[in-house]
Amino acid sequence: MVSSVVSSVVYVIFPVLLAIGLVRKYREYKWGKCKDFRSLHGKVFIVTGANSGIGKETAKGLALRQARVILACRDLVNANNVITEIRRTVSTGELIPMKLDLASLSSVHAFADDVIKDFPEIHTLINNAGVSIPLKKNKKTENGFEINFGVNHLGHFVLTNRLLPKLKESAPSRVIIVSSTLHEKGVIDFDNLYGEKGWDFKQRMNPAYANSKLANAYFGLELAKRLEGTGVDVFTVCPGFCYTKLFRHADLKWWKYVLFFPIAFFYLRSAKQGSQTILHCAVADLPGMSGRFFRDCKPYMSKHEFKPEISTKLWDVSEKLTLRV
Ligand SMILES: NC(=O)c1ccc[n+]([C@@H]2O[C@H](COP(=O)([O-])OP(=O)(O)OC[C@H]3O[C@@H](n4cnc5c(N)ncnc54)[C@H](OP(=O)(O)O)[C@@H]3O)[C@@H](O)[C@H]2O)c1
Repeated sequence: MVSSVVSSVVYVIFPVLLAIGLVRKYREYKWGKCKDFRSLHGKVFIVTGANSGIGKETAKGLALRQARVILACRDLVNANNVITEIRRTVSTGELIPMKLDLASLSSVHAFADDVIKDFPEIHTLINNAGVSIPLKKNKKTENGFEINFGVNHLGHFVLTNRLLPKLKESAPSRVIIVSSTLHEKGVIDFDNLYGEKGWDFKQRMNPAYANSKLANAYFGLELAKRLEGTGVDVFTVCPGFCYTKLFRHADLKWWKYVLFFPIAFFYLRSAKQGSQTILHCAVADLPGMSGRFFRDCKPYMSKHEFKPEISTKLWDVSEKLTLRV
């Protein structure tokens, strides 16, 4: 009896666990790592949504490389708590908390005014902050836009445009847009851009999130085109599927977590693993790559068929929607 238990552990359970562990390790290896640890001393980075998840790990990775990092967060208490947390393990670099609420265009303008006034140079803007809020919650930004589109796309659209003169003056500089491969499930429908005519609530995924991530990808393409020859490079990134607070509004039932566990074991990255492609695009030499989409620390071929006329129109419509009155 005892010997059959021992032999099943030795010949079945142990090899199975070893194989599962090796597959996970192999997947982690394929996700890539930013191994560029050059000093970023004297370089100024802005990371939006730096108080949580991937943004926090990005800020930490930049501080480790001696950068000056502005943590652009909607809650300064959270930003300061995260700085205290980072300082427990990283003593280099400078971490500066600043208030930015992307759901309020007046907050975006106030933040941009302060940055322009207080910082002679900005070398990299990392548009990382994001929400995935189910449509049935019917949440809107201060300016009345559907929340996913308003925060993920419009807020960053205005912020980037306000900081462009500074980024151009500071060239070589970069804009990094954190999108997602979920953009491949998105649509840009100019007749219903931010759900103004209602939504099909039967869809399983959050269509507004996927659409906002597609808007991010189109914004990256158009921005790169408009910035050609200025010394400001643009990279759009998918960090991969990561364990963060992003889906905190999804109200998933407990049994869905149980069903999801095996998938998570093979696919889910830590926030630190998710930050690696952002750090790679922020730090590595990437000549001739402006406008490209990155995932797993390398260029990614999107399955979406991008149309240049859509990126131009999305820019124009976004500009009209957010025009300062
Ligand atoms: N996690 C994934 O699997 C995954 C996959 C693909 C792409 N992404 C993208 O990665 C980025 C980072 O997400 P995450 O996974 O790290 O999620 P997270 O832990 O929820 O972090 C999101 C950050 O955005 C901030 N934020 C939300 N609304 C904001 C607003 N109105 N103004 C300013 N900041 C705001 C949050 O601040 P509060 O803490 O104050 O809410 C938080 O710091 C997002 O753009 C997301 O779309 C994530």
